Amino acid sequence: MNFNELKNVKVTISDDGIAWVNLNRPDKRNAMSPDLHFEMVDVLKELAEDPKVRVLVLGGEGESWCAGQDIKLFFRELDDKPRERHLARLANHEWRWTLLSSFPKPTIAMVHGYCFGGAFVQLFACDFAIAADEALFGLSEVNWGILPGGLVGKVIVDGLSYRDAVYYSMTGEQLDGKKAAEIKLVTQSVPGEQLRARTEALAQELAKKNPQTLRTIKESLRLVRGMSVDQAADYLLAKEREMRFLDREGGREKAMTQFLDEKTYRPGYGEYQRGAEEQGEKEAS
Ligand code: COA
Repeated sequence: MNFNELKNVKVTISDDGIAWVNLNRPDKRNAMSPDLHFEMVDVLKELAEDPKVRVLVLGGEGESWCAGQDIKLFFRELDDKPRERHLARLANHEWRWTLLSSFPKPTIAMVHGYCFGGAFVQLFACDFAIAADEALFGLSEVNWGILPGGLVGKVIVDGLSYRDAVYYSMTGEQLDGKKAAEIKLVTQSVPGEQLRARTEALAQELAKKNPQTLRTIKESLRLVRGMSVDQAADYLLAKEREMRFLDREGGREKAMTQFLDEKTYRPGYGEYQRGAEEQGEKEAS
């Protein structure tokens, strides 16, 4: 895929394995048009199993992370075009939820400027969210006379306290990055000038860890939330076995050897020492 041909998304893959994926409609505050949705589906499918990519960061070009759905192009112009509306809706759901929440590598939302309405879906689909203190979040749907639909209502009741979900969706009151971190709408908030550096540091930390372990942890945590205790216990055991089968680094055995026999590391202070071949090019082949 030639990323240079994209019109609504900007993709850069750094040498340390971080895919910086930015929504790229800065003039419209990165409001999401149907074409942006179609491009994001292609981008996420392309990056998911790209061996060069170890972590994905979702950002936004210009002064805003994402101003929600494009009211003109996604709503009004498709009102009388059922086929186009259907296809746009499918793509909108596919990348923001299906592909992003199950992305096989860690994902970080790097939020600055505005994050409104529909943008909450990709915010919660990402594993981590780092926000600028000055960022502004809002469930503005109530002010448009519409529901926090398109999965927004579901991700907020699952991801926030019920009280906060109801309060912010029924009042439309905005909150800044600090408040968003306080109610755990985001993982952390930092002064705007530190946003990129903090996000990059987190991405680099994740990029050093065993990729199969990270993948299994995120898959497991997302799914056990909807399970009974018995189902979760059985599922986690099966995932543990799956991970040992799929882990090409043999992380579990190596870590035990390093801790019990070689005494070269303690897990409370750092990860086991991964061989160069596991961290580098061999994995890419
Ligand atoms: N859909 C369509 N266009 C949007 C948009 C959206 N969600 N958000 C911003 N834009 C467009 C504006 O119409 C404007 O276009 P124009 O230059 O052709 O007039 C451009 O982006 C810049 O927006 P503007 O309002 O001038 O910028 P601002 O920095 O003063 O304010 C926002 C930014 C995001 C606060 C404001 O545009 C806004 O409230 N947008 C709606 C956000 C929202 O409620 N989204 C959820 C929808 S459910």
